[in-house]
Amino acid sequence: MKIIAGNWKMNGSRDSLVHMVTALQDIDSKNTVILCVPYTMLGVDGGRVAIGAQDASAHDHGAYTGEVSANMIAATGAKYVIVGHSERRQYHGETNDIVRAKAAAVIAAGLTPIICVGETMDEKQAGKTMAIIESGVRESVPNDANNNVIVAYEPRWAIGAGLTPTDSEIADAHKLIADTLTSMGLGDTPVLYGASVKGTNAAQIMSIPNVDGVLVGGASLKPDDFIPIITSVK
Ligand code: 13P
Repeated sequence: MKIIAGNWKMNGSRDSLVHMVTALQDIDSKNTVILCVPYTMLGVDGGRVAIGAQDASAHDHGAYTGEVSANMIAATGAKYVIVGHSERRQYHGETNDIVRAKAAAVIAAGLTPIICVGETMDEKQAGKTMAIIESGVRESVPNDANNNVIVAYEPRWAIGAGLTPTDSEIADAHKLIADTLTSMGLGDTPVLYGASVKGTNAAQIMSIPNVDGVLVGGASLKPDDFIPIITSVK
């Protein structure tokens, strides 16, 4: 069984979410399906689809204009929160320390964080891929997380670009992440792959060792694109 998570980023509407979850109710799959949507769409009943958010404040409550706390997200019925997505790191200056604080707040609210790590093109070209991934995991995942986390490997240079790493690059990254999590006492943590996943490559990617599922951007927005990804693996 795999985890198939969609990240809608700043796309969609409540109507399109209702349309999507309706289309997903009766699909022939036992995989866990998650849709992480903008805050304004939280509260839609996902049925067999778990709903998640895409960010949460590190703070519980208070004078933090524009922020939304993990407890507020939990109150909508959501179960997951993406933290440390590369677009948050790139456009909002989120560091591993900030991501770890947010992930801790998400766990404290009883939700599961989907913690993203991955290297930029500059870091890849400088031969730093493995070091960035390892420090990303060590510094972004709360080490008292007690296995209530999911990690997503998202090579930042491949997101939305139609590019994917080679199978052996994905295998190496996921092995490193799995080994790092094991050394932190979090060996049961699922590790997802994300970047340019589509119906035509999903099954192959999820056959790579230590790939426990996928985190899908663009191809999670429409049932015709998302359903083939979900049903591509048992
Ligand atoms: P794409 O699938 O559009 O490349 O996006 C990946 C991503 O960022 C998922 O979080």
